[in-house]
Amino acid sequence: MKHIYQKGAEGASNTLLLLHGTGGTENDLLPLADMIDKDANVLSVRGNVSENGMPRFFKRLAEGVFDIEDLIFRTKELNEFLDEAAEQYNFDRRNIIAVGYSNGANIAASLLFHYRDPLKGAILHHPMVPRRGIELPGLSGINVFMAAGKNDPICPAQETIDLQQLLEDAGASVSVHWENFGHQLTRSEVEAAASWYSNIK
Ligand code: MLT
Repeated sequence: MKHIYQKGAEGASNTLLLLHGTGGTENDLLPLADMIDKDANVLSVRGNVSENGMPRFFKRLAEGVFDIEDLIFRTKELNEFLDEAAEQYNFDRRNIIAVGYSNGANIAASLLFHYRDPLKGAILHHPMVPRRGIELPGLSGINVFMAAGKNDPICPAQETIDLQQLLEDAGASVSVHWENFGHQLTRSEVEAAASWYSNIK
């Protein structure tokens, strides 16, 4: 997958996996990595799907309606890419914290829905439930932070509430930060994510 890798400070144990929103690129979330952990390794990936030229991590049939077959295929592709990247760049595969926005948050959540220990933790900005009606792998020991807009027209608040419930039912520790700025990725929610991260790191 097309990506950027930045090695962190000597002895850095965590790798931040940056996953952009629809129409974004691997450059978009680099400033977030700096705010969250400037010492961490950074792996920023571009989604392999193009929707009228806009990169995404999996196909959708309509706004908010996901192509589940493609979601499963792309989640596997990303999980395997993480295995390969950990080997290539020599970072610890067990210490990846995803930082995703919108479509990128959804594929990060999908990793947690489909694989055992694909991530050590996840920061999900404006996520949705990636898939319903399946049993999740055990998620105990996995920490998840979600930031959502009470008035987000693209990722409705109920999606965050449902996602929190599903992750907690599977054993994850979940913390939710609410704002009122629609689908915007705000500086204050990234600051809240950074403060959450400093406690779980
Ligand atoms: C999606 O995955 O489609 C998102 O939740 C919405 C978007 O990326 O526009």
